[in-house]
Amino acid sequence: MRTVTFHIKRYDPARDAQGSTRVQSFEIPHGGQLTVLEGLFYIQEKLDASLAFRYCCRASICGSCAMYINGRYRLACQTNVLHLHTDEVRIEPLPHMPLVKDLVCDMTDFFAKYEYIRPWLIRSSEAPAKEILQSQADRHKLNMPIDCILCGCCYSSCPSVWSEEHYLGPHALLWAYRFEVDSRDEARKERLPMWDNERGVYRCHTITNCVEACPKELNPTEGIQWLKMAAVRRRLFGASK
Ligand code: SF4
Ligand code: SF4
Ligand code: FES
Repeated sequence: MRTVTFHIKRYDPARDAQGSTRVQSFEIPHGGQLTVLEGLFYIQEKLDASLAFRYCCRASICGSCAMYINGRYRLACQTNVLHLHTDEVRIEPLPHMPLVKDLVCDMTDFFAKYEYIRPWLIRSSEAPAKEILQSQADRHKLNMPIDCILCGCCYSSCPSVWSEEHYLGPHALLWAYRFEVDSRDEARKERLPMWDNERGVYRCHTITNCVEACPKELNPTEGIQWLKMAAVRRRLFGASK
């Protein structure tokens, strides 16, 4: 039986001063295959039931278990300790986010900004009798942004988010892009003021931390650059795209 040691950054608002964290280490036995999330379950079930962390799907699709593991943004359920090539694993909550407890961050602003861009299909014409068809080329435009699982890694990594609390952030702008390029959406005019402002795309300085951080290998920066170009085109030519 092998062992791995988890060094976990902890914070308990009931016992720790505001903003003060501590690191606690736990040894976890395993038979060779262990995800970080499974290790956290072991700790919670056998060693310390007070450890707080989020998870849901255990299959890299809900985004709940995003953490900072050995210096990188990762999903705990997707991270096999063998692939870290060390028996010492340092686990922290998403940096630069307000803490609720241990590995649980406060995602209120993150989701408020996501909701702000109205991340759903908006139609003004009459609903068709059947589904709204798309060409293969139009569907292809959605391939990258629809894989976003709203994990928060890009948001946590973005220097513009750290310095400007009102900046919408890479996730919200990626979703804005996702609806801009959706041939079925009919709200381009209404959507434009949501992201074509100082709170939106112009706060992005293309540092691409978000691209580096994304555990789904998406490219929010590409979407944001596309939106900037679209805004310029609309100002100059009044084009619909
Ligand atoms: S590219 Fe833009 S959105 Fe991404 S981390 Fe940099 S400033 Fe933030
Ligand atoms: S773009 Fe990537 S890092 Fe950002 S919320 Fe979506 S999946 Fe997570
Ligand atoms: S538990 Fe859903 S992404 Fe990890």
